[in-house]
Amino acid sequence: MKFLVLHGPNLNLLGRREPHIYGSLTLDAVDRLIRDYARLRGVRVECRQSNLEGQLVDWLQSAEAEGFDGAVLNPGAFTHYSLALRDVVAAIAIPVVEVHLSNIHAREPFRHESVIAAVARGQILGFGTGSYLLGLDALIAVDRDARQTGPPARPAGRARQRRRTRGPGISRRR
Ligand code: DQA
Repeated sequence: MKFLVLHGPNLNLLGRREPHIYGSLTLDAVDRLIRDYARLRGVRVECRQSNLEGQLVDWLQSAEAEGFDGAVLNPGAFTHYSLALRDVVAAIAIPVVEVHLSNIHAREPFRHESVIAAVARGQILGFGTGSYLLGLDALIAVDRDARQTGPPARPAGRARQRRRTRGPGISRRR
């Protein structure tokens, strides 16, 4: 299994950006922890950061073709208003787990809403770097569930409908 970890805008400043909120680890240190944890869990991971909305959209669009089975996404401030990121998360087939270092619900009111949350597979927030590690755990659990359950069954209604439409065609041919 291979997962993509995406950090949004300003997360390149980790370590010196409001350390009382985001902690004192740099982004490199956070990525090292994520990679170490992935190794421990037996999965592969690639971490990328961008301050650009379009770059994050491009990476999510091509994630499946690049062989990723899921993505952990910290959209940074885009969380609160980027409909482009929301739409790409809704559009792609692989699961996306939204994560935040801080508990956005315990902060300024403008941070309480996430436009991504409703289309993400789930949301993990408030655990510092642990949010990313829990995000990986969540993707591993999602993948395990999907393997156990198998592909979604064909809805009974559709099967019946197909038989009904095929029926008259067959009798006409006779
Ligand atoms: C953040 C929370 C956002 O509100 C903020 O804009 C960030 C970081 C977090 O990880 O806590 O850049 O996503």
